[in-house]
Amino acid sequence: MIDTRRLAHATFETPDLEGQIAYWTHVMGLTLIERDSKRAVLSTRAGFESIVLEAGNRAWLNKVAFQVAPGTDLGELAAMLQKEGVKSERRTEITPGVRDAIVFTDPNNVLVEIFADYELSADSGLREGIMPLKLGHIAWRVNDPQKMTNFYCKFLNFRESDWIGDHFAFLRCGSDHHTINFARYPEERLHHFAFEVRDVPELNRSCDFLADQKIQLVWGPIRHVVGHNVAAYHRSPEDHRVELYCEMDMMKDEALGYFDPRPWHEDRPQRPKVWPKDTWRSRWGFGSFGTFPGYP
Ligand SMILES: [Fe+2]
Repeated sequence: MIDTRRLAHATFETPDLEGQIAYWTHVMGLTLIERDSKRAVLSTRAGFESIVLEAGNRAWLNKVAFQVAPGTDLGELAAMLQKEGVKSERRTEITPGVRDAIVFTDPNNVLVEIFADYELSADSGLREGIMPLKLGHIAWRVNDPQKMTNFYCKFLNFRESDWIGDHFAFLRCGSDHHTINFARYPEERLHHFAFEVRDVPELNRSCDFLADQKIQLVWGPIRHVVGHNVAAYHRSPEDHRVELYCEMDMMKDEALGYFDPRPWHEDRPQRPKVWPKDTWRSRWGFGSFGTFPGYP
């Protein structure tokens, strides 16, 4: 099994490389650490690569990278995948921080890059925009969330944090409540992706900053029920839904099996479970997607 430790970076194809670089640097506050005419790599202020942009014909997310424990033998992981019928290939120089990786396709036709060793990028000294802590989670629309959940749990050691009915899965690979979501939809594509900010005042500052940039929220701020994160959503210039969040539930101890106690939890203690399918999306009173214009 691939023992996934963290979500690393997401690779977007884009018809507008310049526009995307402007958004990810000036608005989201990531640092451009490498670029040429076809490609750009951006990292957080702390030196973690989060977004890779590749010039192309359409705006979509086509690759996701995860890190396993440093020192892990990638050849052994590839052999294990091969045994289970999953073909992978070795790739080098993926980004400035990732020299060696294995790559395979998940059942949703997304390329998954697995690497063990990572080199942090230097601090540019630039301070602008939102400057999130990290890329926190990616949510996908898929035909069969159970099939995707089975794959990520079997091959990448994800654990099921919660489900809403049988249509929305929340999976974790570390202590954060979710790193990947799979939601049942007829059309398979990205649902949204999310960056963590440090606290609620920082989320407020980010929303005010977005307003200054004439970027309006499409949903929130809300406190989710499942995961209990405070979240605010806007759309990127290429119409991807971007969530900024903080205060997400954390499973600090897998053996205890419950999320670290918080005053807003419904259960004592709050354990992974299947929530009713009509569970509100926000504890603060907004029922579901669609409450705000443009969402979904
Ligand atoms: Fe989310």
